[in-house]
Amino acid sequence: MLDNLNEEIVSFKETAIMQIANFGRKYQLESGNYIYPAWFGEGDTSTSNLINNKTIEALNQGKTFYTYQNGIPQLRLEISNYMNKVFKINTKPEHHSVVTGGMMGLRLICDLIISDGDEVIMVGPVWPNIRSSVLLRKGNIKEVALKLIDSEWKLDFEKLLDSITHKTKMVFVNSPGNPTGWVMSKKQQEILLNHVREMGCWLISDEVYHQIMFNENVSPSFLQLSKPSDRLIVINSASKSFNMTGWRIGWITHPEELGSHIAKLVQITTTGVPEFLQNGLISALQNYKILTKEVRQNLKKSRDIMFARLVNWKQVECSVPEAAFYAFFKVKGIEDSLEYAKKLIIDTNVGVAPGIAFGESGEGHLRICFAAQESFINEVMDRLEPALN
Ligand SMILES: Cc1ncc(COP(=O)(O)O)c(C=O)c1O
Repeated sequence: MLDNLNEEIVSFKETAIMQIANFGRKYQLESGNYIYPAWFGEGDTSTSNLINNKTIEALNQGKTFYTYQNGIPQLRLEISNYMNKVFKINTKPEHHSVVTGGMMGLRLICDLIISDGDEVIMVGPVWPNIRSSVLLRKGNIKEVALKLIDSEWKLDFEKLLDSITHKTKMVFVNSPGNPTGWVMSKKQQEILLNHVREMGCWLISDEVYHQIMFNENVSPSFLQLSKPSDRLIVINSASKSFNMTGWRIGWITHPEELGSHIAKLVQITTTGVPEFLQNGLISALQNYKILTKEVRQNLKKSRDIMFARLVNWKQVECSVPEAAFYAFFKVKGIEDSLEYAKKLIIDTNVGVAPGIAFGESGEGHLRICFAAQESFINEVMDRLEPALN
């Protein structure tokens, strides 16, 4: 039967995060032991009623029809108000398109830009779905890897610049980064943007964690440096800032002339984000100050609880992240992080993401999501300590 399907899809590998989650879920069923899930990138707090109530209201008002492909005008206006306020920029509603989560934003952009064999430069280690979206379009990925030096993730910036040439089609930067929490500085953004302008390629900046910063309000955005003529697309999401992972809603900021092409791609994929969900995002953006303050405070507390212990563990080398919500650390002596993560499930009943999921440069590392209650973090750390300390 399988030989009669699209061979590229059949042979496409699931990510190592999915592999470990499937392994953990199966093991839980078979063994009857509860497996503590810290493999995915989401918190355990459900969405605020400030958002839910507006959505329910919209449903009750009958907002249940096909909708605008780029998003309803009220939401595009609200997004542009929000972006202009938090980044002190000057965008119009036409610069933003609503998409079915940051994930769909990434897929649509890869569809729009990449053809067979196109060169894509990425800063890694990086969230696996980004890599998969490029590979599905048969892009040719070249990674410039961050290195953990003196407990800090560092980028060989010259190497990144050198790797971007006239042959490059797309440069992909995710800052604040998943899994490392690394943040590209404003100065580096400026130099990179200038270089990309010279080379004539696209710059895709995934800024879905822009609100999850522990020292500042928001992370620096390329949009603060860009001109309308720049080939710059910024991916954003409601998932992380507003505890809305299951809603599947986000937005992309793009040159105005791309709007109609994005609309075509939305039409033949999701046909648009349900209008009642878009009303929920309007409320999230209107109340962003209260909502993100709470999210950030809770995450900072969780981070501090986890890292107070992790930094002292003998087998571990880590950097305390100033952004996002992951502990991504090197474990001495491990060569196969997927096998090691499976062993941890069996030995400790904790499910963590294997570093290899984030590319070759992630091998030898593990990722734990710390967007969780104190009791969960303590339990996970108590269980992992004998193996990692
Ligand atoms: C770096 C990065 N980009 C994009 C996404 C996609 O977010 P969503 O599709 O939930 O909006 C994620 C989710 O984990 C992520 O970590």
